[in-house]
Amino acid sequence: MPQEAALWHKLEEISRHIFSLYNFKEIRAPLIEEASLFNRSLGQSSEIVQKQMFLIKNKEETYALRPEGTASIVRSYLENNLDKTKGFVKLYYIGPMFRLERPQKGRLRQFHHIGCEAIGSPEPNLDAEIIFLADNLLRAFSIEGYKIKINSLGCAKDKKALAINLHNALKEKLTELCPDCKVRFKKNTLRILDCKNNACQQILKKIDIAGSYLCPDCKTHFVKVRESLDSLKINYFLAPLLVRGLDYYTRTVFEITHQDLGAQDALAAGGRYDNLVKELGGPDLGAIGFAFGVERLLLAAGYKLQAAGEKLVYIISLGEAAKFESVKLLNDLRKNGITCDTDYENKSLKGALRTANDLGARYVLIIGEDELKKNVVTLKDMTSGEQKEVKIEEVSSELKC
Ligand code: HAM
Repeated sequence: MPQEAALWHKLEEISRHIFSLYNFKEIRAPLIEEASLFNRSLGQSSEIVQKQMFLIKNKEETYALRPEGTASIVRSYLENNLDKTKGFVKLYYIGPMFRLERPQKGRLRQFHHIGCEAIGSPEPNLDAEIIFLADNLLRAFSIEGYKIKINSLGCAKDKKALAINLHNALKEKLTELCPDCKVRFKKNTLRILDCKNNACQQILKKIDIAGSYLCPDCKTHFVKVRESLDSLKINYFLAPLLVRGLDYYTRTVFEITHQDLGAQDALAAGGRYDNLVKELGGPDLGAIGFAFGVERLLLAAGYKLQAAGEKLVYIISLGEAAKFESVKLLNDLRKNGITCDTDYENKSLKGALRTANDLGARYVLIIGEDELKKNVVTLKDMTSGEQKEVKIEEVSSELKC
């Protein structure tokens, strides 16, 4: 609805500004991709590929409404040869994503991401910059009460070790896991860490696997990320069981949760995906990014986010001749960059003034027979209530100052 759309504009405007401070450029990727792109990138056993893709089939191919942005952006990066012409790029995107989920507060089938991807570098300082950027955006949105949780999954080998450690730790508890996790235990043990089931959560809480699976390189990488975050004085928490629900993640992963969001408490999530560019046919390049859920940002921002009010000028013309004059005046004001409108419902002066008030008009211009005779309008300041006469040809300049 219009009043909500104004808040969306505000969020987008702030995002574009902050992204540009970090030298990110906007990318607009298509809403429809070949489904196989997501199967390969997110992983066959991921919740999204298993259950949540909106699929469109024709004779030869299956397409999907994009459930997320990262895979599309990497595909575009490679298809447009950015790996050869640019190497390192910083891209941001704002747009709708689609997941076939059971809708509830903060969980929609069509929702929106404000996201970014920095492709072409494994540098730990980049991880810190990306997390700092997310923190910066939240502060610019005037959102408080969020928590940044980080972890490192390590490289592909480490992830396998983590899965084996977890597998061993859960063997004894298999009968106590929920039915979904029993399947995950066989197919993709790491997915169990995403389970929201209370019994599973209680079992997981008692498992101590923090960092034990990281190889020396990945350990050093994570130490450097944290040193860099500390130097930026970011308030973050280590979350050893944070793995994220998509297969492409490696090394640093993070999630930002908010205290007021209830069950769907993730405002944003992201991390490194150092193998994805190569897996999609490109060179061996590191990459990292994140995405905010816009609807959840709005829930968390609540009343604090104020849309910039336009200064509306509302013209009330009484009688045919005055209406004729108001057409020219509206045109003249708009030519001068002044937002204005008039009463098209033939209301009485009282009724039209009420409408002007409801619309939040800053000024009202009244043109009646008396005003026409004198070639003036009555200008009413809706904040102070003061009224004065202004010559018609001077209205624009009077309102501009
Ligand atoms: P994700 O965690 O699947 O990550 O989604 C990111 C955010 O989108 C979530 O934290 C949440 O705020 C929002 N979100 C997800 N699903 C829904 C839904 N059904 N309704 C409303 N909001 C939702 C990704 O998509 C990754 N591509 C993020 C990323 C970018 N990683 C690296 N680069």
